Amino acid sequence: MNHFLSIRDLSREEVLHLFRLTASLKGRQKAGDRGAPLAGRSMALIFEKPSLRTRVTFEVGMAQLGGAAVHLSAQEIGIGVRESVPDIARNLSRWVDIIAARTFRHETVKTLATHATVPVINGLSDLEHPCQALADLFTLWERGMDLAGTRLAWIGDGNNVCHSLLLLAALLGTPMAVATPPGYAPQSEIQAAARALGGRLTLTTDPREALEGADVLYTDVWISMGQEAEREKRLEAFQRYQLNEHLVGFAKPGAVVMHCLPAHRGEEITDAVLDGPRSVVLDQSENRLHAQKAVILHLLGGGDV
Ligand code: CP
Ligand code: NVA
Repeated sequence: MNHFLSIRDLSREEVLHLFRLTASLKGRQKAGDRGAPLAGRSMALIFEKPSLRTRVTFEVGMAQLGGAAVHLSAQEIGIGVRESVPDIARNLSRWVDIIAARTFRHETVKTLATHATVPVINGLSDLEHPCQALADLFTLWERGMDLAGTRLAWIGDGNNVCHSLLLLAALLGTPMAVATPPGYAPQSEIQAAARALGGRLTLTTDPREALEGADVLYTDVWISMGQEAEREKRLEAFQRYQLNEHLVGFAKPGAVVMHCLPAHRGEEITDAVLDGPRSVVLDQSENRLHAQKAVILHLLGGGDV
């Protein structure tokens, strides 16, 4: 793996290696191990959209590994306006060891990778959010769940987070049912890629059908960053897809609730479900830190477990 732009950049063996490395890094961090494998190394962090988790976990992750991160907002560097994406990639490659970028168009993060001579990580594009999926399935794996026997239900928008989860679930043999309103299904190219990886994927417009027999329930915002103009239309289309106590009742008793956050409380999920005893959202959020440290080490060739 030279870059991490998509779950498609990983093999099943690499994912399992990254899970073991993530667990080891998490354990070392909790034990107060202050090793600095990335002393003197640095990361450029480019953001075209807002972030809490991704920015903090990359910056803190680099610091914990002994390196440093430089945050660059879109306004600051004028991506594609002040300077072209290839020129930004070529310049950054002369100063830093690795680049992470959150972009609107997936094409932008791909162009960065094409022209950079250092590894590039996708910190969320309109197509995928691979760091999130990795942290999410690690969260289930560390709970001791058998991923091949765990049924995952996605309720809501077939968006970037759903895409990466579909691909990773396929790679790990996790059956996944996706319930979206008509017109909001995951992109057909992603469905085909998941099926090509052997994914056991069910698509429906009926949330109850997806929830029946599910061990894990996942939802995300109905209006992703960049879709604000579609707000009214989307709020109406997604009304039946709110993860509330009534809908959760159709899943297996004890099913785990996931959300990548930030949540729009009262829209795609209720307070009672998000804050309830089944919710593992803060474990997911915490695990972004450890999973991304594993990805960085792996890309920089220092990822021995
Ligand atoms: N889940 C996630 O990526 O959060 P941020 O948008 O806050 O980075
Ligand atoms: N689907 C959301 C995820 C945010 C982490 C978005 O793209 O805005």
